Amino acid sequence: MITTQHITAEQLHETLKNIKVGGSACHYSLKKCEEFVPLINEIRELKEEKNAVILVHSYVSPEIIYGVGDFVGDSYALSKNAMQTKADVIVFAAVRFMGETAQILNPEKEVLVPAALDGCTLADCIDADQVRALRREFPDYTFVCYVNTTAEVKAECDVCVTSANVYRVVEQIPNDKIYFLPDKLMGQNLANEMRRRGVKKDVRYFSGTCYVHEEYGEEQIFRIRTEYPNVKVVSHPECKPAVCEQSDFVGSTSQMINYMMETESKEFLMLTECGLSSRLQKEFPDKRLVGTCTLCRYMKSNTLEDILRVLKNPAPSDRVLIREDIRQKAARCVEAMFAYTRQ
Ligand code: 13P
Ligand code: SF4
Repeated sequence: MITTQHITAEQLHETLKNIKVGGSACHYSLKKCEEFVPLINEIRELKEEKNAVILVHSYVSPEIIYGVGDFVGDSYALSKNAMQTKADVIVFAAVRFMGETAQILNPEKEVLVPAALDGCTLADCIDADQVRALRREFPDYTFVCYVNTTAEVKAECDVCVTSANVYRVVEQIPNDKIYFLPDKLMGQNLANEMRRRGVKKDVRYFSGTCYVHEEYGEEQIFRIRTEYPNVKVVSHPECKPAVCEQSDFVGSTSQMINYMMETESKEFLMLTECGLSSRLQKEFPDKRLVGTCTLCRYMKSNTLEDILRVLKNPAPSDRVLIREDIRQKAARCVEAMFAYTRQ
C-alpha cells in the first residue's frame, strides 16, 4: 500500500522562507512554492512506487533537498548512504562522478543522474590515459585520487579520498611518495597539512582546479575581518592554500556545517558553493552569513522536472553504466578508502 506523505505549499514555504542567497532564483515566495508542490508530490509518489531513494548533495537547490531528498550530505556521507541503501533505484541529484561512485558500490542497482549538466571541472580535467602515463613517469608513487574523478580514472588509482578524509587517509599510507590527482590546490593543501602534522610525504599533484573554489582569495578574508572582527572564516580544501591558511576551519561541506553548529560565534564567512549557505540559513536562522558565495553550474542544473522525468522514463544517458572490469578496479580504489577510514 502506498502511504506517500504529501506536502502543501504552506509547509514548503515555512521550510524555505529564511533562504535568501544570491538573486531571486534563491528566494522562496509562497507563489513559487505553489509551483513546486505538484512536482514534489508526484516525485514522492513515484519514489515509493519504484522503491527509489534520492541522494542529494548540499550544493543542489533547496526545493530538491527539502522537497524530495532522502539523504543530504557531502560526497563521503552520500557514498556511504549509497552503500547502505536497500532501495532498487538510486537517483543521485548531484553530478555524474557521484552517481558513478554509487554505481561502483552497487552494481546490481539502477543509478540515475538527473543533472542536465552533469560534469565537474575537476572530474573532467583528467582521463585514464593520462593517469597511465603518469604512473609510468612516477612508478614508485602511490596514486591517490580525489572522489571528484571518473570511474575510469579511479580504476587506475590505488586509493580514493574525499574532502572529509584526505588528510587522515594519506597520513596512513605506508609509502612516502604520493601522487595526488586531479586537484592542484587540494594537493598543495595536503602537502602543507602533512608538513604541519610532521608526517614525511613527498606529495606531487596534477594541475586541475574547481572553478568555484579557486575564485576565493585571501584579500576577501582580510576585508571581511576588518568589517566583522568576530567573524569565523570557514573554507573548503579545494580553495587556495593562502585562503585555507587564513581560515578558522577547513573541511568538507558537512564538516563546515558541523563547525558552524558547534561554534559560539554568530557571524560566518563560508567560502564554498551557495547551496551550503542556503542550508545554513534554513537550519541555523540565528547565525549570520557575511560576504558572498559562488554557484556551481553543474550542481545547480538539477531540477525537480528532471528528477520526475528520470523516475518516470529515464533516457539511456540518465543511467550510469560502467564496464564491469573498470567497475571492479574502481571498487578496489574506493574500498581502500573505506578500509583506511575504518582504522
Ligand atoms: P564535499 O565532499 O565536501 O561535499 O565536496 C564535493 C565537492 O564537489 C566540492 O566542490
Ligand atoms: Fe566540481 Fe567544483 Fe562543482 Fe564541486 S563545486 S562539483 S568540484 S565544479
